[in-house]
Amino acid sequence: MAEGMLKGKKGIIFGALDDRSIAWRVALAAHREGAQCVLTNAPIALRLGTLNALSEEINAPIIPCDVTDQEAIADLFAKTKDHFGTIDFILHAVGMSPNVRKGKAYTDLNYTWVHQTLDISALSLHRVLQQATQDEMLNNGASVVALSYIGAQRIFSKYSDMNDAKALLESIARNFGSRLGSKGIRVNTVSQGPTKTSAGTGIKGFDGMFTFAEKMAPLGNPSADDCADYCMTLFSDYTRMVTMQNLYHDGGFATSGISEELVEALEKAFAEESGEAANSGEGG
Ligand SMILES: NC(=O)c1ccc[n+]([C@@H]2O[C@H](COP(=O)([O-])OP(=O)(O)OC[C@H]3O[C@@H](n4cnc5c(N)ncnc54)[C@H](O)[C@@H]3O)[C@@H](O)[C@H]2O)c1
Repeated sequence: MAEGMLKGKKGIIFGALDDRSIAWRVALAAHREGAQCVLTNAPIALRLGTLNALSEEINAPIIPCDVTDQEAIADLFAKTKDHFGTIDFILHAVGMSPNVRKGKAYTDLNYTWVHQTLDISALSLHRVLQQATQDEMLNNGASVVALSYIGAQRIFSKYSDMNDAKALLESIARNFGSRLGSKGIRVNTVSQGPTKTSAGTGIKGFDGMFTFAEKMAPLGNPSADDCADYCMTLFSDYTRMVTMQNLYHDGGFATSGISEELVEALEKAFAEESGEAANSGEGG
């Protein structure tokens, strides 16, 4: 695989929590490709202390920032500018829904939590890009990537209000992409397949969704490292004409109807079920 694709580039990576985080894998890949990074996460997440290991490994400072706090975002940019100047890329890998965490059905949402979901998972991209624009933080030709999920287009019941948050996130990416294009700055979302991270496994029913996608997608589910490699291409100059896109990185899941394996498994499962029903009918 290519190395040095991001040589000379500088960027901010939001959302590395532990070594399973997609953002953590992106930071490692960006370092491998020759980029310099600033790492950031919410102060409460930084209290865990796990990010220090990544910071040391790739020689990247950690600057705390709660993405729902505009002053904290301005402070992050000011400190980043002091550290290494303006930037060439941003990874937005931030998402959280109290409703999903607490297993709230879509028809029984707590609206205070919905506001938190949308603020953290979607509006935060607007906050970051609005502040970046005002502070002239992004260099000409910069690339912004936010991580999304196919729940934005199709309904995954256990994903609850995060389906709405991802739809809004993708819309914000398109809106900023249209406004920043004159500076050669591109904004895209990467719609990643299910990945075993802290946020992912926090969704009730995640294992079922993971297995379903794994069996449906011709290439299987992409790992966090696969996603990181894809992000490298999007931060590189090779994709300088790609903007306002929602790019599926899901092994082919989004355009699959059903796989042979799933058809066979379902046929078997339903045959067993009807057999059991017939047997229990006989017995009764
Ligand atoms: N894991 C999956 O299956 C999957 C699939 C598609 C998309 N995604 C998306 O990828 C992104 C990264 O998630 P992940 O799976 O790596 O899980 P993760 O839990 O490792 O990352 C989520 C991050 O969001 C951060 N965060 C939450 N609230 C914040 C706040 N107020 N301010 C700043 N940061 C905050 C957390 O501290 C954490 O680092 C999310 O947007 C998620 O929705 C994940």
